[in-house]
Amino acid sequence: MASIKISPSILSADFSKLGDEIKNLERAKADLIHIDVMDGHFVPNITIGPDVISKLRKYTSLPFDVHLMISPVDNFIKNFAEAGADIITIHPEATNDLENSIKKIKSLNKKAGVSLNPETSINKVLPVLNLIDLVLVMSVNPGFGGQKFMKETLRKVEELRNKIDKLKLNTEIEIDGGINFENAKMAKKSGVDILVSGTTIFKENGGNLEKNIELLRMG
Ligand code: DX5
Ligand code: ZN
Repeated sequence: MASIKISPSILSADFSKLGDEIKNLERAKADLIHIDVMDGHFVPNITIGPDVISKLRKYTSLPFDVHLMISPVDNFIKNFAEAGADIITIHPEATNDLENSIKKIKSLNKKAGVSLNPETSINKVLPVLNLIDLVLVMSVNPGFGGQKFMKETLRKVEELRNKIDKLKLNTEIEIDGGINFENAKMAKKSGVDILVSGTTIFKENGGNLEKNIELLRMG
């Protein structure tokens, strides 16, 4: 298995200097930059939109892993693609035609992801598994950083790993929410390809980004 990728969530960064924070993450050997977009409607929190993302684009050449927690999502897919997203991940509950939304993302030459809330079954994503590049398994309820990891969501990772391998697909599995040095090991064992982490990367070991990324990768 290829080595695990780390996608730091800038939700835990200092929003007054996001450009510098992103540069530091690249220096600290992050593989992707996870950007949480929240609208105060699909989830009870508000973050940033496409204008901020397009301004951040020049600070790194790392892929922007954009997690859209907005509804309805369709009207904004193009804006995020143009802002410089490389992966656009959507929630099935945020669209009334998941397949069509995925096709929209792909038609803009972006990677498409589908995110599953802790209570959302993998049956929501199975019919479109061959159309997408990523499944984002939420291990907390979306909306806030710093929540407690829900261990039971690893069952979904295992099931998805089996399906993806059986079908010989390249779809990657990403896990998001409450990841720390301990549960990162369990997530890897369950078959995760990409770990998202905000609090652990920005707050542990006095905020030593490089050390925390390395510890998550190696653990
Ligand atoms: C939650 C977000 C996560 C979150 C991860 O809605 O999707 O990406 O910021 O942060 P931690 O690692 O603090 O749980
Ligand atoms: Zn996220």
